[in-house]
Amino acid sequence: SSIKTGLNLLYNIKINKMEHQVQETFSMPRIGEKAPQFKAVTTQGEINFPSDYQGKWSILFSHPADFTPVCTSEFMTFAHLQEKFRKANCELVGLSVDGLYSHIAWLRTIKEKIEFNGMKDIEVTFPLIEDITMEVAKKYGMIQPGESNTKAVRAVFFVDPKGIIRAIIYYPLSIGRNFDELYRALIAMQTTDEFGVATPADWRPGDDVIVPTAGSCGVAKERMEDKENLDCKDWFFCTKKLDEKEIYSKLIKD
Ligand code: BEZ
Repeated sequence: SSIKTGLNLLYNIKINKMEHQVQETFSMPRIGEKAPQFKAVTTQGEINFPSDYQGKWSILFSHPADFTPVCTSEFMTFAHLQEKFRKANCELVGLSVDGLYSHIAWLRTIKEKIEFNGMKDIEVTFPLIEDITMEVAKKYGMIQPGESNTKAVRAVFFVDPKGIIRAIIYYPLSIGRNFDELYRALIAMQTTDEFGVATPADWRPGDDVIVPTAGSCGVAKERMEDKENLDCKDWFFCTKKLDEKEIYSKLIKD
C-alpha cells in the first residue's frame, strides 16, 4: 500500500502540474484591447511589438513548427502576397516555437527547393520570431493544450495602427489558412474605419455596405426617406453603394 500511496502522490503532482500548465498557458488577448507588448529576436533582427509598427496595420501570425508542409505552403503564400499587404499599409510578422537557426535553415530550404501552387524561389523577408521559451506564444494564447502543449496553433492577430487588436482568427494544426480571407478582412476593417460603415456577409470591395443603425427607432425611420443615398429594407437594414475605386484610392498606396 505504500507503493500505492506513492503512485497516488506522483499522479496528483502530475495532475497539479497539468492544471497549473493549462492555467498558465491559456491567457488570450481580446479584440479591442492593446496588443501585448514584447521584444523578440527574429530572422530580420530584433523587434518590439507592436511599437515598431505604430502607424501601420500588422498581422501577427503563429504556426506550429519549422520544416512542416502546411506551414511551408502558408509561408510561401504569405511571402508571395507580402507586397500586396504592404500596399494596404500592413506588415507581416510570423512566429513559431522553434529557434532562430532552425528558422534560417527552413527558410533557405524553402527558397532553394520547394515549389507550391506555381510559386518557387520564394524568399521570406518578413520577420519570423524565434520563441523557443514560448513567452510570446503564451502571452497571445497561441498555445492551446487541447491541440498541442508544445506547438502553437495557427493564430492570426490583426493589429491596427494604434496597436489595438481588431480581429483574431484561429485554425487548428492540420488546416492551412485562407489568405484571400485575411486580405478581405483587412480591407473590410480599413473600409469600416475610413467610411464609417459596416460590411455584410461575404462583402468584397464594390459590394454595397451597411449603414449602421442610428440610435433610436424614430431617427432610424427617418433614414428610410433618404431614397437617393440609401436603400432601406426596414428601419434597421439600410445599405448604400460604395465604389470600389473610392475604397482603393483611399486605402491602397502604389
Ligand atoms: C504542418 O505544418 O504540416 C503541420 C504542423 C503540425 C501538425 C500538422 C501539420
